[in-house]
Amino acid sequence: MTTAAPSVHPRELSDAPDWWRQAVVYQVYPRSFADSNGDGLGDIPGITSRVPYLAQLGVDAIWLSPFYPSALADGGYDVADYRDVDPRLGSLADMDELIAELHAHGIRVVVDIVPNHTSNDHAWFQEALAAGRGSAARDRYIFREGTGPDGSEPPTDWQSVFGGSAWERVADGQWYFHNFDVSQPDLNWANPEVRADFVKTLRFWSDRGVDGFRIDVAHMLTKDLTEPLPSAAELAALPQDGNHPLLDRDDVHEVYAEWRAVFNSYDPPRTAVAEAWVHPSRVPLYASIDSLGQAFNFDLLEADFDARQFRRIVTDNLALAARSGSSTTWVLSNHDVVRHATRYGLPDAERGADGRPTLKHGNRWLLSGGTEPALDAERGQRRARAAALFVLGLPGSAYLYQGEELGLHEVADIPDSARQDPTFFRSPGVDQGRDGCRVPLPWTAEGPAFGFGDAAAHLPQPDWFAAYAVDRQDGDPASTLSMYRRALDLRHELQTAEQLEWLDLGREDAVGFARPDGWIVVTNFGTEPIALPAGEVLLSSVPVEAGTLPGEASVWLRA
Ligand code: NOJ
Repeated sequence: MTTAAPSVHPRELSDAPDWWRQAVVYQVYPRSFADSNGDGLGDIPGITSRVPYLAQLGVDAIWLSPFYPSALADGGYDVADYRDVDPRLGSLADMDELIAELHAHGIRVVVDIVPNHTSNDHAWFQEALAAGRGSAARDRYIFREGTGPDGSEPPTDWQSVFGGSAWERVADGQWYFHNFDVSQPDLNWANPEVRADFVKTLRFWSDRGVDGFRIDVAHMLTKDLTEPLPSAAELAALPQDGNHPLLDRDDVHEVYAEWRAVFNSYDPPRTAVAEAWVHPSRVPLYASIDSLGQAFNFDLLEADFDARQFRRIVTDNLALAARSGSSTTWVLSNHDVVRHATRYGLPDAERGADGRPTLKHGNRWLLSGGTEPALDAERGQRRARAAALFVLGLPGSAYLYQGEELGLHEVADIPDSARQDPTFFRSPGVDQGRDGCRVPLPWTAEGPAFGFGDAAAHLPQPDWFAAYAVDRQDGDPASTLSMYRRALDLRHELQTAEQLEWLDLGREDAVGFARPDGWIVVTNFGTEPIALPAGEVLLSSVPVEAGTLPGEASVWLRA
């Protein structure tokens, strides 16, 4: 419950070079945010029109998922030109306007860089196809001869992340490597031209005023493909210790050291955050200030709504951040996973021996689009609100995914004919894919496409979206939107040193911590009410009375 109406501070853009350390960064998935021209696809002017909304929400920065020219084979992560805007989304002039508008509202801009692979529509790949084997153009990618008597078998039995072979044959018989979709050929990061071109891209956007970069699969760029290549089984058995042929190689940091010099040549220095799915002990390499400077911590995406798991994750990640000198990042949802309101309304994940969720049938919903068994939507939302206040009270930066401030659930029942995600097509159909968290936002309860735009949205919006619309929640002090606005507003007011001290609440299923300057956060993960420490209630995820916090709820107190 909010204790006061949200106030809107028109904020100045902070000059502090470390603005990012405890920033709230809001991820915009451009095609699903706001459609200004009625073609069913969100666009850059649509985002610009909603900057006042972002300012009122109180975010410090936005991260824009790719908006570059793309065939949308992987939702824009198949980039045909890194230094342009998809004409369906707008123009470079529109981007300039968006950046200016965000800055005028005190909001910084982070853009997504996808350096592991291009689209097969990229001029370089087209050139490589035309130039033939042994050419300089092919050396920008990873081409190999096939195996078998006539080379008609792929070079190895490696599987792509999205399913199916990681190799695709071209007309003259050679094969190219793609970690992801067949339309996403991997670049050869041993090629100096590739390196130089990305530096050019980083400068291009930095010169246009972009403040930072999110680096897609930052742990995958460099490879050692010296023959003979290992089999898939051999590859899987190799340790990921910095020398693995494909993943998390030490030499990738040579690339980032060069980028760091570019970032630091700007004032304030440009920032970067690594999407690196690596062993926790290796995260500090990416987060180090000599490398990208910050790395995503995805542990909460895989955790149940569970006090012990949350507390361990916080302890571990604060320690990792301290090792790198960076701040940690908190992520409950993004465009790749089932929205957390839905995850928390489903039974806890089945876990393997390593404690990580397994993706067997039955709990596939964790990282894909399904909701089976049945969803307890109300419980999911209650827990999602509690988790949000827990995370927003922590030291470090918080990454929000568009729609979570509305308490949005995953859309689980997208018809197969409307699905877009390559994981659905390449599995095939076994993994329902990630479309369910990418359905365009509901801005109004009435009207076409729930106010997203004048035409039907590119992914179908369900009727129940009306109840989550911005205009339904606006001004309602009990709404999730009001809770987020108040939390972000208070977070600015309470912002304090990057420390916490755990509180002993006498209960295993509740977690409490105090931040410097008297800011206390308590989350009750259990279902029994718990007595609260003394303090003034600033904000809570459910009504709090007489010093008692109900189950599955969080509260912020001022001591
Ligand atoms: C990670 C991105 O978050 C995901 O959406 C994308 O499919 C892959 N990288 C490939 O670019």
